Amino acid sequence: MDHPIDPRDDLSQWSEDERAAPELVELPSIIELLRRRCGVDFSFYKVPTLSRRISQRMARGEATSPQAYLQRLGDDDAERSALCSDLLINVTEFFRDPAVFTQLADEVLPDLLRGRDAAQELRIWSAGCATGEEAYSLAMLALDAAGRLGFHGNVKVFATDLDADALAQGSRGDYSAESVAAVPEALLRRYFQRQTGGGARVDPSLRRHVVFAQHNLLGDPPFTRIDLAVCRNLLIYLKPAAQIKALSHLHAALQPHGLLLLGSSETVGDFESRAFSVVDRSSRLFRKQSVSLPRLPDGPTLGAQAVPANQGWPCRR
Ligand SMILES: C[S@@+](CC[C@H](N)C(=O)[O-])C[C@H]1O[C@@H](n2cnc3c(N)ncnc32)[C@H](O)[C@@H]1O
Repeated sequence: MDHPIDPRDDLSQWSEDERAAPELVELPSIIELLRRRCGVDFSFYKVPTLSRRISQRMARGEATSPQAYLQRLGDDDAERSALCSDLLINVTEFFRDPAVFTQLADEVLPDLLRGRDAAQELRIWSAGCATGEEAYSLAMLALDAAGRLGFHGNVKVFATDLDADALAQGSRGDYSAESVAAVPEALLRRYFQRQTGGGARVDPSLRRHVVFAQHNLLGDPPFTRIDLAVCRNLLIYLKPAAQIKALSHLHAALQPHGLLLLGSSETVGDFESRAFSVVDRSSRLFRKQSVSLPRLPDGPTLGAQAVPANQGWPCRR
């Protein structure tokens, strides 16, 4: 897979204007082609990000002109898959934003577990989990908190994304030395098996708590009875109407008074106080308010499905 990390993808540092690229005339045709042949509707995503990422692929030599690139996308399955993955921006890290994860470990997860009956499993949803680092980080902290508090019930982390290649990587649980460098040593020893070459593989004792599934946050039915929904660095790539749709799905997934954690530059927007109350504004932590939101028209659906390793894009000829 070809996923160079562009520093401008750290959206906390850049406004949409600063990140703007000239809009490609061919963009609507490219979006339509990807919708038909890859099943992903990028019309919900912000135009400057899409234009910039497509221009970058062309500049890297994938085509000499936008028209030639459109032609190539029609003919070349591999380039179409690569572009889809590129546009979804599956950049992630273990314990991304360490202060937020410290708060989860010290306050949020213990609060969710304290006094919980063993029959009531702890249900966490990592929506837009990319290659799984966020989901495994959450599972490690939840299992640790469960151990400290003597919670003997099940801990389950649903790890979902649109990008099947990223999910397959997460499902395999093999990470490079550079990526596991962010995992605290004690957790690394407990939950990973060191591999020759410095990388590490997720231990089955951690792996069995994480369920990977391909799922479109904008179209598939939400999960249910979630205690903590973590959706970080996904909303920011969506147009406002799609952000509302995603937030309403996250709201529906949560238990009454369940918690929602967003990325450091994301908010619940107009849903604040109506559908979510603020728990901690600086860490972007919100609590579900028990109101029923109007049902929005359905978007594209993939149907949540557990992802076997090595499943690629459902690109059609
Ligand atoms: C930048 S990554 C964020 C990864 C992780 N949450 C983090 O903060 O480190 C954004 C992820 O959202 C996924 N994504 C984008 N649109 C989605 C959708 N409609 N449904 C599910 N996942 C989506 C992308 O495939 C990508 O893996």
